Amino acid sequence: MLSSFLSRGVLASAVFASCVAAVTTVDVNGTAAHTIPPLLFGQMFEATPLNNVYHRSQSGDGGIYAELLQNRAFQQVKPNTDAALLAWAPINGASIKVIADPSPLSNALPNSLELTIPSGISGQVGFGNEGYWGINVNSSWTYNASFYYKFPSASKFSGKLTVMLRSSTGSVYASASVPVSGSTTTWTQVAVPLTPTSSPASVANNFTVTVDGASASEETINFAMFSLFPPTFKGRANGLRMDIAQTLYDMKPSFFRLPGGNNLGQSVSTRWQWNATVGNLIDRPGRMGDWGYINTDGLGLLEYMYLCEDMEMEPIMAVWAGYSLGGESLPENELTPYIQQAIDQINFVIGDHAKSEPAALRASLGHPEPFPLQYIEIGNEDFFASESYIYRWKHFAGNLTANFPQLKFIATSSNHKLDPIPKQYDNHVYQTPGWFAENAFYYDSFERDGTYYFAGEYAVVSTNASNLYGTSAYGRLMYPDMQGSSGEAAFMTGLERNSDIIFAASYAPLLMNVADSKWTPNLISFDASQVYPSTSFYTQQLFSLNRGTEYLPSTLHIAEAVSLHWSVTRDAPTNTVIIKIANTGTSAEDMSFELPFEGVHGIGTATVLSGSATASNSPEAPDTVKPVTSQIKTGKSFPYTAPAYSVNVLRVKLQ
Ligand code: AHR
Repeated sequence: MLSSFLSRGVLASAVFASCVAAVTTVDVNGTAAHTIPPLLFGQMFEATPLNNVYHRSQSGDGGIYAELLQNRAFQQVKPNTDAALLAWAPINGASIKVIADPSPLSNALPNSLELTIPSGISGQVGFGNEGYWGINVNSSWTYNASFYYKFPSASKFSGKLTVMLRSSTGSVYASASVPVSGSTTTWTQVAVPLTPTSSPASVANNFTVTVDGASASEETINFAMFSLFPPTFKGRANGLRMDIAQTLYDMKPSFFRLPGGNNLGQSVSTRWQWNATVGNLIDRPGRMGDWGYINTDGLGLLEYMYLCEDMEMEPIMAVWAGYSLGGESLPENELTPYIQQAIDQINFVIGDHAKSEPAALRASLGHPEPFPLQYIEIGNEDFFASESYIYRWKHFAGNLTANFPQLKFIATSSNHKLDPIPKQYDNHVYQTPGWFAENAFYYDSFERDGTYYFAGEYAVVSTNASNLYGTSAYGRLMYPDMQGSSGEAAFMTGLERNSDIIFAASYAPLLMNVADSKWTPNLISFDASQVYPSTSFYTQQLFSLNRGTEYLPSTLHIAEAVSLHWSVTRDAPTNTVIIKIANTGTSAEDMSFELPFEGVHGIGTATVLSGSATASNSPEAPDTVKPVTSQIKTGKSFPYTAPAYSVNVLRVKLQ
């Protein structure tokens, strides 16, 4: 949502008009206007985009969190219903149901899977899990499979469970045997490695657990907390899916906004609560997430921190601030426990483990050192309840500032009555390509009054201005395309130019499983075995990898109609001038650059992302548009032609 910042202030940065001619001439000023802030380009994580009609893109569970089994612990499901068996199916006549276990594995996991072997069945009998729209079976990996089991009543049974990875038609790729005894009446964990013998192209595979039907006739066995993990990014236990994490890492984002936007909470009782997401997996109850399905919370607060640590990103962490997406604002006199929960959440991340219980918990979980953290976001899009935000901001910002004077707090409503006056605001915009191109100067007129901005969510979502929040069937883009990505790039030149007041910016949302995608578009799409970086992914990557350390003012168009936008930085360590150009128009545009430096190298590079207006990367055509780097002639003065619908990065070395 676009909040109302447009009314702020006067034109603060130098803007030089130039004639729009056949060749656009850009004079670069050699004196840096400001340094580029270290967090400028990062990513926003939405644990799974909402609600019934148009939102939802499985991105944590079934996404970057590497767990392969869906509904692994029957969290938050209603026992004895078909829905409780989501992703599970019986094999060879077995009877399975999810029960409210009278002696459950843990308080957090009250349900278990009850398997009963009918009499008169021969062969292997049991159940299987189909994963999150498939399971990627790869013979170069060893998978860690585990589960708990017990016999609800002691029996004389002695035999084995067979644990397999196999195709939906029964071909076996990996198999292991686990001896079990009917005398096991308390929960016992089984862990087995599975190394497939081949790598099927199809992901229509199952994880199965079976027992010999004849010898186990009429036996009942209960199961709980299954897990199947492939190798993870950087080998982290309970970690990240390697290919998705690597794609994100390849973008070199410098921050990660978590635990989401809307995902902070649909209702007070189902809000995201940090303490329910840490510790042993069997102590995490999971929650009904805000995007219409149950979150395991296996990707919890500590995992988010490790994700940041492993990818050298800094968290920008939100706290729930008394307002839920469903529309409920807590009254002023009921905020205290929620403020304490926010204080504890922050202490879990940065507290001194000798002084704070949440920090001691972090230390006990293996990370005594505090994590880096500078920014806390108070709520998400709380402009939807901007009146109650006046008192909620007062109490949350007031108390958190008193407890953590070293931190900076980001407001999510620009209500002018906020007190204390926010120093940081988060601003979201989902719009058309035209809006982004026309608003490349959006922040130029903001007052330089000590207020800083976080462009925490932005994306071209449709070419149809009247359907920005509709479904893809009615005009939302399914995948980013070049007219959208070049529009975003035009906007990003403005973010870079205004990075004296913009401290961070992120496209949103980040991830989508193509099998379950009702919020579109997203930056990175994937299915069970492949990742599909979009044109906007490459745009983000081009800006992120080519930031430079200081912003150099240059000639700017002020006419909104022109299709060219650019920004110029210098990277001091490598003494390189970096020019980013977005052409949002239908035709190639000729440009000429005038650099104020002596000793400009005669050869530079141009990395270009371009395609037709509707060119996009999809699972059917994943490589339609990719950046291409070539050498170009450069010098103190040099020409350049920016193709139609393009994002261009020119790198020119200085001697
Ligand atoms: O990015 C998708 C959603 O858009 C975010 O969760 C929310 O903050 C915004 O409305």
